[in-house]
Amino acid sequence: MGTDKLGTILDRRSIRRFTDQKIDHEVITQLLDAAMHAPSAVNKQPWHFIVIDRRQLMDKIMEIHPHAGMFRTASHGIVVCGDESLQHDDGYWVVDCGAATQNLLLAAHSLGLGACWVGLHPREGRKAAFTTLLDLPSHVKPFALVALGYPGEKKTRADRFHPDKVKSNGWGEPYYH
Ligand SMILES: Cc1cc2nc3c(=O)[nH]c(=O)nc-3n(C[C@H](O)[C@H](O)[C@H](O)COP(=O)(O)O)c2cc1C
Repeated sequence: MGTDKLGTILDRRSIRRFTDQKIDHEVITQLLDAAMHAPSAVNKQPWHFIVIDRRQLMDKIMEIHPHAGMFRTASHGIVVCGDESLQHDDGYWVVDCGAATQNLLLAAHSLGLGACWVGLHPREGRKAAFTTLLDLPSHVKPFALVALGYPGEKKTRADRFHPDKVKSNGWGEPYYH
């Protein structure tokens, strides 16, 4: 499905193995700029980003998160955090941070990097562990961790277009016959 104009979106896959090339500071800034261009409710931009490039901290992350083994080879991590005091209304920070996280992943792919979303929200135990690890104030909630680096594995485009997921003008009628 799709055309090559949509390659950034259609070819993005989770990358969990990286080369030992480190990502430059300027490239990290480009990723953050892309993340901050995400839509947010009433344009509140209720997010903060914590850049992780310290090996010791990545080792700690692998200890406290059961599915973060890709930090063995990652160059950087970025923790996307929501700010309850900035959000439009209760619960919006989660949606806004989701959009920012996806922008980050797409920007990484577009720049030739590999990335993987490592889930924090909605698991309260993981959020508490990262709140302690990163010394976050109480109004700032860790949402997701993105592992980043230059790809050390290749992945192909997945086929995920499912016509049966689409309805026409209400639940009862399929859009595709
Ligand atoms: C909310 C969320 C949490 C995720 N958590 C993890 C994780 O903890 N560890 C991991 O390796 N991948 C994680 N992933 C990545 C998914 O496994 C991956 O996106 C999915 O299998 C589809 O593969 P793709 O990203 O290559 O298209 C997470 C993705 C999302 C959206």
